[in-house]
Order: sequence, then structure tokens, then C-alpha cells
Amino acid sequence: MKKLVHFIAAVTLGATASYSAANCDSGETVVKLSHVTGGTTHPKVVAANNFAERVNTELNGKMCVEVYPNSTLFGDSKELEALLLGDVQLLAPSLSKFGSYTEKFGVFDLPFIFRDIDAAIRFTQSNEGKGLLNEMENVGFVGLGYWMSGMKYFSANKPLIEPTDSAGLKFRVQTSDVAKAMIKAMGASPQPMAFAEVYGALQTGVVDGQENTWSNIYTQKFFEVQDSVTETNHQLLAYLFMTSKEFLDSLDADVRNQFIEIANDVTLQANLEVKEKEAYNRQNILNAGGVINVLTPEQRTKWVDSMKPAWGQFEKAIGKDLINAAAGS
Ligand code: SIN
Repeated sequence: MKKLVHFIAAVTLGATASYSAANCDSGETVVKLSHVTGGTTHPKVVAANNFAERVNTELNGKMCVEVYPNSTLFGDSKELEALLLGDVQLLAPSLSKFGSYTEKFGVFDLPFIFRDIDAAIRFTQSNEGKGLLNEMENVGFVGLGYWMSGMKYFSANKPLIEPTDSAGLKFRVQTSDVAKAMIKAMGASPQPMAFAEVYGALQTGVVDGQENTWSNIYTQKFFEVQDSVTETNHQLLAYLFMTSKEFLDSLDADVRNQFIEIANDVTLQANLEVKEKEAYNRQNILNAGGVINVLTPEQRTKWVDSMKPAWGQFEKAIGKDLINAAAGS
């Protein structure tokens, strides 16, 4: 890798250098890492850049990672197909975006299944969670690790305090059947949409609201085009850091081992830091004038009661054992 890089992001809370195209030397295996998030303090941005930095230092001369954030190379709808075609080698899509390949990942989307991020991390470290990393090997996908993003919160163009406040509203969701069922259970309508289109859709009123983490709500500026965000903590957002079997198998054994070891280290580090990053971006929303509605325990119970019936529809497809393992984490 040539020394260095297009720009160095502000060094805030672990924000790291950005790695973009054209830094690689000839003779190095170029590895494109594409993702859809942006900013400098987003957990996925930091983890992706840390991975690039580690590989580009430790495998210098052999391998060179280029990071393409913000859907600049591939957006939600094309990235998985691009991985199978070999147009990109690394992705970190939300676990909610694998519905066309497996129904099992629906377990991560069940509302209120994880008490908090720590419970979600424990599940990903369990035998059941680790087993899901290989769930799509038949398709040609290999999971390298789970990167947590945070719990999700609803925002809308009006304050959402009781679940009945969401009745009749249209919410942008990811392409997850569980998310769609959950929104319907609240008496609202789900509108699946690519991440890159959400800000515009909120701004123009194509949708009334959305659900996301503090880091996405801050770095995508969703709070600027919404009345407020409600601290529902209703669902997990996490990513599958992944590659293709074809790419992994093409590497020399020593390079492959080092590549996997770096992926493991970066995953561990990312998940250690994620709560801090989420808290930081929550505060950033407040500092920028965004409004956060904090629920009383009674109000939150009503949100749980309104969304949890969605579980019943997915028990068979996901499997009761997997659901129990996640819920008990
Ligand atoms: C992401 O964080 O990668 C995108 C999440 C979303 O589509 O809402």
C-alpha cells in the first residue's frame, strides 16, 4: 500500500483514517470493502477502517484493502450480488438484509429479543450464534464476524410516546419480513427502502418515520427531518462482516490465516467500543438540537405489548431453539 491515504478523518472517539481507491501497489491482492454507512464516528465506519489499516500494515505487499463507505460502490440492493460476482470482496450488511437467502437471521430482528447489546453479543458468541456465521455457505457467503451497531429507536414527524401514536404512519424499514410484521402489529405501514434513500424520503414525506441506531440517526442526519426520536430500544441492528467463499479459498493459506485473525481482532475491538460510540452519537444528536423522547417503564411496556405478537409468525421459520437461545442470552 502506498503511503497513505486521501484524508485523515477527525480523530474523535476512535475515528480512523479513511482508505480509498488507488492506494494499492501492483502485485498486492486488492480487496474492496463496500458498505452503506458514513460519518467518522459510526461503529461500522471505524471497524471497516481499522480492518483496512491492520491488513494494509500487516499484509503490506501481499494484500491491500480499499474501503468504499456511504453506498459509493454498491448500495443495499446490489452489494450481495456483487460479492457473489467477485466485484467486491468484503461487506458488512445489516443482518436484516438476508431474507432472500435465509429466514434464520430473522431471529436478530425479533422485537425486544435482546435486553441490550451485551445480550446480543453473548448470543453471537454462543454455539447457536456462531453456527449462523456459516448459514449461507451453500450460497457462497462466509461470515467472518458479527459487528454490533446498537439498539434501534423510532423517529417520526410527530412525537411517538404511546404505540398508538404510530397508528396510520408509514415507516421506512429494511427488507426484513420480521420488521414489516412488527410495524403492522403497531397499526402502521412498513415501507422497505434502501438506506441511501431514507433521508430524502423523510424530508419529502414519502415516509413519516424510520427506526435506527443513534449512530445512523446522527451520521445520516435523520433527526433534522423528524420531530423527535423515541428511546424504544426495540430491536437490534448488527452487521455480518462477510466475504465470499470463492475469495477466501483463493488466498494462500498463510495470508488467509492472517486475514481471518485480523478480522477476529477487529470484530472483538469493535464490539468492545460500540456502546461508547452509540452514547457519543446520542449526545451528538442532542448537541445538534435533536429531540429525544425518554419513555417511562409503563410507556415502554405498551410498546413491548404492541410489537411482540409479531414473534408468533416467525417461530416456525426461525426455529424455536434458536429463538430460545437468543432470548435467554
Ligand atoms: C446500516 O447501518 O448498514 C444500514 C441500516 C439500515 O438500512 O437502516
